[in-house]
Parts: sequence; structure tokens; C-alpha cells
Amino acid sequence: MPSPIVLITGALTGIGRATALAFAQEGASIVVSGRRDQLGHELVDELRGLGAEAEYIRTDVRRDDEVRTLVDQTVSRFGRLDVAVNNAGTEGTFGPVSTQTEENYAATFDTNVLGTLLSMKHELRVMQVQGSGNIINVSSVLGKIGTANGSVYVASKHAVEGLTKSAALEVATAGIRVNAVAPGPIDTGFIDRVTGGSQERMDYMKAYVPMRRLGQSEEVAAAILFLASPKAAFLTGHSLAIDGGKLAG
Ligand SMILES: NC(=O)c1ccc[n+]([C@@H]2O[C@H](COP(=O)([O-])OP(=O)(O)OC[C@H]3O[C@@H](n4cnc5c(N)ncnc54)[C@H](OP(=O)(O)O)[C@@H]3O)[C@@H](O)[C@H]2O)c1
Repeated sequence: MPSPIVLITGALTGIGRATALAFAQEGASIVVSGRRDQLGHELVDELRGLGAEAEYIRTDVRRDDEVRTLVDQTVSRFGRLDVAVNNAGTEGTFGPVSTQTEENYAATFDTNVLGTLLSMKHELRVMQVQGSGNIINVSSVLGKIGTANGSVYVASKHAVEGLTKSAALEVATAGIRVNAVAPGPIDTGFIDRVTGGSQERMDYMKAYVPMRRLGQSEEVAAAILFLASPKAAFLTGHSLAIDGGKLAG
């Protein structure tokens, strides 16, 4: 079987980066996208060092024209698109509902919701012609439950869950699967920003997880690779929690 062609948004750090490295180790060809060119070129060098074919394409997922170009350039470079990981996301600004602003709503929803929608729009355009493909959206346990002070982010990830289910139903007979992963707290820059360097907030974050630790990006990447694999052939419209047991409680 030829090596799968994989596209990852927000791929330059954290979960996206670990996913790119994991796909490279499995022999995939990878397009990494993001907004920081130097990180993009460095990651491509690292992926090529692992023997993978790799390209970086600068993309802001809030822009329809940029996402269209990302997908079209992926297809012109590699001939098709097998797997898309829609990972770009922002935590926005956490705080009580009474402090929320139109600006934070727009910033959070434009990246997490519109970005996921635009990504799937262009990925499915190509995958429906191919008659095959696999999409994995990066949601959150906060796409399934609420948390105090996280209303806007929580609402945006609930929307990602809804987008995932609806898109999966649209293409269920077209040879295309659409799933999500729903991570609990994962040790990335995202958590550093949410905790703001406070040991107390970090301890709270760990206490939130039944396993009493943060997850690692590689643990989320492993679940993404599973969902993208033929082992998950009868799995669509699903959101798989990687959360150290959080949703069990
Ligand atoms: N870490 C966690 O605890 C956790 C838990 C559940 C879900 N998640 C989700 O996991 C995903 C990855 O987050 P992470 O934890 O790996 O944190 P991260 O390292 O901050 O990764 C987020 C990535 O998204 C990119 N991004 C943000 N806005 C973008 C935009 N408009 N266009 C393109 N790229 C954009 C960021 O690049 P820039 O530097 O250019 O902004 C960054 O590389 C996110 O969707 C997040 O919501 C994380």
C-alpha cells in the first residue's frame, strides 16, 4: 500500500507536532501547516530526517482562501489526501461568564469552530472526489462536559463535537470516516498558558484527572493514528476521550 498522505493543521507545536512525528515514523508523507514559518521549516527538516516526505504550508485556519490553498497544494504536491488532522485551536481567555467579551468569543470560535468547518469543507471536497479519506478533529473533554471559567472554550469544543457527528453522517456511505479525539489536560504550551505558570493551578489540573497526571502529546497522537488506521474501519462520528479517566467520574 502506498504511504498515506497526511495533512495536519496547527502542526508546529504540542499535539499537532507529536502527531506529525508519529505519522512520519509510520512511513506517511506529511503536510504540516501553521503560522510560524521558522518552526514550520524546522519541523519539515526533522520529518525528512526521519525519512518522511514532508512540506510546510503557512495557513491560518480562519481564512477560507488559505485553507483552500493548503488543501489544493497538498493534492498538487502528493496527488491525493488520505488523512486530515484538524488540530489548530486556541484556549482563548478563560474567566467567569460575566467577564466574557465579543472579542474573546470571536477569537475562540473563529479558530476552533470556523477553522474546523473550513478545514473539513476543503478536505471533503477532495475526499469526496477520491471516494476515500479520513478526518480526525481535535476536540476536548471540554467538548463533552463543562468547566467553571471555561464557558467560551467549552462551547467551541462542544461545537467541534457537533461538526464531527454531522460531517460523519454526510459522508458515511462515501468511503470517508470523520472522528474526533477528546483530550483531557495534555502537557503542552496550551496548559502552560491556561495555568499561567502557577503551581497551584497546575496541581489543580493534575487533581482534575483520575490518573493524577497530565497526558502527553504522544498519547493523543497514538489515538489519532489508531482512528486513521484500517483498524478503526467501522468507527465514524465518534469522539474518543484520551483523558486519564476524567469522563468516567
Ligand atoms: N493541551 C491540552 O490540555 C488540550 C486539551 C484538549 C484539547 N486540546 C486541543 O488540542 C489542540 C492542540 O493544542 P495543544 O495542546 O497542542 O496546544 P498548542 O501547542 O498551543 O497547539 C495549538 C496550535 O494551534 C495553532 N493555531 C492556533 N490558532 C491558529 C490559527 N488561526 N491558524 C492556524 N494555526 C493556529 C497554534 O499556532 P500559533 O502559535 O500560530 O497560534 C499552535 O501551534 C487544540 O485544538 C486544543 O484545543 C488541548
